[in-house]
Amino acid sequence: MSKTWRPATQLVHGGTLRSQYGETSEAIYLTQGFVYETSEAAEARFKGETEGFIYARYGSPTNDMFEKRMCMLEGAEDARATASGMAAVTAAILCQLKAGDHIVAARALFGSCRWVVETLAPKYGIDCTLIDGRDLANWEKAITAKTKVFFLESPTNPTLEVIDIAGVAKLANQIGAKVVVDNVFATPLFQKPLELGAHIVVYSATKHIDGQGRCLGGVVLSDKEWIDENLHDYFRHTGPAMSPFNAWTLLKGIETLPLRVRQQTENAAKIADFLAEQGKIAKVIYPGRKDHPQADIIAKQMTGGSTLVAFELKGGKDAAFALQNALEIVKISNNLGDSKSLITHPATTTHKNLTEEARAELGISPGTVRLSAGIEDTDDLIEDFARALAKVSA
Ligand SMILES: Cc1ncc(COP(=O)(O)O)c(C=O)c1O
Repeated sequence: MSKTWRPATQLVHGGTLRSQYGETSEAIYLTQGFVYETSEAAEARFKGETEGFIYARYGSPTNDMFEKRMCMLEGAEDARATASGMAAVTAAILCQLKAGDHIVAARALFGSCRWVVETLAPKYGIDCTLIDGRDLANWEKAITAKTKVFFLESPTNPTLEVIDIAGVAKLANQIGAKVVVDNVFATPLFQKPLELGAHIVVYSATKHIDGQGRCLGGVVLSDKEWIDENLHDYFRHTGPAMSPFNAWTLLKGIETLPLRVRQQTENAAKIADFLAEQGKIAKVIYPGRKDHPQADIIAKQMTGGSTLVAFELKGGKDAAFALQNALEIVKISNNLGDSKSLITHPATTTHKNLTEEARAELGISPGTVRLSAGIEDTDDLIEDFARALAKVSA
């Protein structure tokens, strides 16, 4: 496998393990275990003296292909595929911490990620300080003698705030802490957290990597030393492994990732520009627009805009609901990254568990709507929005 391949080539060929049959498409190895020729061979495998698989909870061939392909794309040395994005986030954070340690996390996190650091970790004696991650001074102020992990998502869900990953990594390195980045919204194509200095990257592969709404999955990527010392045993013994069937589905999904993300981003950018011109819209937040409040950081750390657009209707919740209900092509769903365009009202769905005050801190108002652009024809989508907006009272 060539390390000089560009992403579109890596995503079609990277990590492929062909069986003796020389199949074109990657094979699915749906097996729980593996057999050994002899007792001595089993002993050597368990001692780590020979290469090979032992048990599907530890690793298996289809998952291995998915992990290797993700490593090539991300520029990571090693990876573990997990059953969901949340399994990846939880494993990446908890595997490296113990009671008494401290996490600093940006407060603008996907709801379940926030629950892991704000509610779950403290139950095991791991404290967490949530901050407005846009200002580097807040990260620095939150550091204690016990800080071991910085956790962030950028751009954030749903209001697409951006955090300076290189700046956070610099602070973490000064105190020997690790930076974990949830890179779901940026996709592995538009942002490379490891190159920016982060230590661990996590994905919900459920989103753009599958991209066709079929199965859950996640992945944790880092250097080999961190995985060997932290994730390896946690992963083997707590069992968050991905199903090989899902690894196969995701391997097929990832082949078309660049094509889908390119079309989704083009659609998102054009819809963002269209919405910004409409009188019923108070505000549009899109990482590819010059008026994004952190356009300077975006230019520094991202190579593309986003497949997501956040916008606010002047008419609040009633207008947001009316718009969503009037759309014909764009479907109402809390998911994202799909080839189908999906629209979400965060205040009543994904972020309903936050207090109104916490939602306001994140810029989520009753009129805020999040669009995940699909791969449909751009003009059809714009016409869908024009038709639906006409039905919204001003
Ligand atoms: C930013 C982010 N991180 C993590 C997750 C969790 O992923 P999953 O649903 O695959 O567990 C999601 C979405 O659900 C997400 O949007």
